[in-house]
Amino acid sequence: MKLSSTLKLSVSATIKMNGLALQKKAAGIRVFNLSAGEPMVDCHPSIIEGAERAMREGKTHYPPVAGIPELRQAFSDWMNTTYKTVYTSKNCIVTCGGKFGLYALFQAILDPGDEVVMIAPYWVSYSGITEMFGGVPVVTSTKEENGWRVSREDIERVSTAKTTILVLNNASNPTGTLYTRKQLRSILEFAASKHITVVSDEVYSGLMYDNNEFVSCGSFPEFQENVVVIQSCSKHFAMTGWRVGFVLAPEPVISRLSTIQGQSTTGTSSISQWAALAGVHNARAVIDSVRAPMRERRDVFTKIFNKLFGASILSAPSGLYSFVSLKALGSQETDSMKFALRLLEEGNIATVPGVAFGQEGYLRFSFGAEKEELEAALQALKTFLGSK
Ligand SMILES: Cc1ncc(COP(=O)(O)O)c(C=O)c1O
Repeated sequence: MKLSSTLKLSVSATIKMNGLALQKKAAGIRVFNLSAGEPMVDCHPSIIEGAERAMREGKTHYPPVAGIPELRQAFSDWMNTTYKTVYTSKNCIVTCGGKFGLYALFQAILDPGDEVVMIAPYWVSYSGITEMFGGVPVVTSTKEENGWRVSREDIERVSTAKTTILVLNNASNPTGTLYTRKQLRSILEFAASKHITVVSDEVYSGLMYDNNEFVSCGSFPEFQENVVVIQSCSKHFAMTGWRVGFVLAPEPVISRLSTIQGQSTTGTSSISQWAALAGVHNARAVIDSVRAPMRERRDVFTKIFNKLFGASILSAPSGLYSFVSLKALGSQETDSMKFALRLLEEGNIATVPGVAFGQEGYLRFSFGAEKEELEAALQALKTFLGSK
């Protein structure tokens, strides 16, 4: 069978590592899975009830392509009250997860050769999706000692006349890095002056710890015209399997995305959307029910890690991950892929190598797993490294 010769495809490293872990599990091997990017908690009852009600009421037909109006309205209202944004329902489209929102958006925006600036360590899919549409990933790196934060000057340095998109992941996967209003304003000012679209991936905005404040790029009315926000129910609503995400953008962008969805997914599952609506109506309780165990698991992870490895890693300020240098594990290895594969193959511990995020010498551990699993995984890691 003939396959496309122009499509540039790369496999998502998180999905690859998770897949390898699941294969081992299916073969009856005990695997410690710290690679999956999801909070392992049950879905809030209000969400389940929302889905059941939708099914009983016969809401099982094709939904509107851009999403059910009730959810578009409720989600933009939630953004406005929670993050001081200024969206109407017409600025909001429901997508099959935040990932398809990004995919459709890049398809809608990019021409071959357009450059997309991303900040390493970056979420694995930004470069893969960019290349699928003929775009060119341009990476600017950050450093742990600077809190993995990019500056306006870093972005200026790599921007060219071909720069079309700047992807900002606030709060960041894998580092949990957050940006202040002042830092965001400075970056947004530069982007606007060069007509660069800022795609602000905010899917972890609900998972803030230690009173950290989340600032949305959608909360700057003066930059509204060149900012697109990606949101999702996956992380802070613990709805990964339901596939409900959102794109918030100027109306012409939403209209284009709607046309793309009309020719691709036809929209998100109707039942998932009604379930998500119940979640949005109950957002505070739902988010608290996810955030509280995640904060506890993060603390357990950091404490045990530091104790076992004599390290002093810091707790992530947000999100679901601890991004740890191989040095903190007492290893001299620099090739994170080699290290992560050996850890999985020989030690049955699944992580994601830093190189997949554009940052060598690090591993990403997800602390979304249950506490007992985290403890057992770290102990297994200690035993495995001690045996080498
Ligand atoms: C930074 C980031 N953006 C977007 C997504 C997409 O999530 P979903 O498609 O489940 O909404 C993920 C998932 O891991 C992510 O980590």
